[in-house]
Amino acid sequence: MSGPAREPDAAASARAGGKVILLGEHAVVHGVPAIAAGIGLGATARARALPPGEASVLELGGRSWRAGGTEDTARAFTALLAAGAPMNGERDAQTEEAAVEVVAHSDLPAGGGLGSSAALGVAIAKAVELLLRGVADPDRALCRARAWEEVFHGTPSGIDTAAALHGGCFRFSRAHGVHPITPARALWLCVGWTGAGASTKAMVDSVAQLAARKPELVSRAMDGIRALVQNAELCIEGGDLPALGKLMNMNQMILAGLMVSTEGIETLCAAARGAGALGAKLTGAGGGGSVIALLSGEDAAPAVLDAWKAAGFAGFVTSIEDGPRPAGEERAR
Ligand code: MEV
Repeated sequence: MSGPAREPDAAASARAGGKVILLGEHAVVHGVPAIAAGIGLGATARARALPPGEASVLELGGRSWRAGGTEDTARAFTALLAAGAPMNGERDAQTEEAAVEVVAHSDLPAGGGLGSSAALGVAIAKAVELLLRGVADPDRALCRARAWEEVFHGTPSGIDTAAALHGGCFRFSRAHGVHPITPARALWLCVGWTGAGASTKAMVDSVAQLAARKPELVSRAMDGIRALVQNAELCIEGGDLPALGKLMNMNQMILAGLMVSTEGIETLCAAARGAGALGAKLTGAGGGGSVIALLSGEDAAPAVLDAWKAAGFAGFVTSIEDGPRPAGEERAR
């Protein structure tokens, strides 16, 4: 363990990115691989040591959440702090008894399907690790961020936290974790916001309920998505964007069959395709949230954004490139 920074004025800051799921959301919860990529928007956190004996506190969204509180955000913060036990199972008074103040902020819409809560969890986890241990070990940060996510999402697949931690474009499965994918060409996407937030937990539960009622239907959907994801990886690595767009459209049809699409999502998808996008689908849990539209290049973005604006929706353009996102400024002093 290298130089912990626990003097009273010690502070550390960290950032983590949001994500888009290119194909495979929901199926990934059921063990099917999915393809995701980090995006530039994300979350930041700054952690400061408090005098011993004070209660740890999180400042987020204009509110203070005290560790030990009963609301979800307070419970998630408590779980994140408690998940810092050393990997070998031995007690570590240094981190167990530490009191910290964390100030966190996310640029991503809550419930927007862009991984806001995972980005916050990872940014807070990294800032706390940096503060308490002087280094943000990725395994320890992941363990803390998972504990945070589980309070909000029950049994998440882990794809959102993986994206927040690693960035870049990757295939993810519960069994095998992250496998980086190198796009042959930069992937330009428009991201459109339906204006309606959705609870990931509620949407994941709704698919589980459908699976309990109609197991064959959901099992066929999962098989279909698995095949689309396999082909999409080849398209990304081979630079075949028109084929990738078609696979995204097919994934959207299957997601609609799983009842996680909405009128807003369908309107955004249709407007994007009508304005020249190669393909469009919801990203994340659906039920609202965001839509991604694959572009032939950056210059195709204005037509899609204008079509969304004309239909009353806001959006932005982003690119997915090769390799992990730069770590961002992180420090302990
Ligand atoms: C949420 O971004 C993606 C879902 O597949 C849930 C998960 O993977 O935990 C809907």
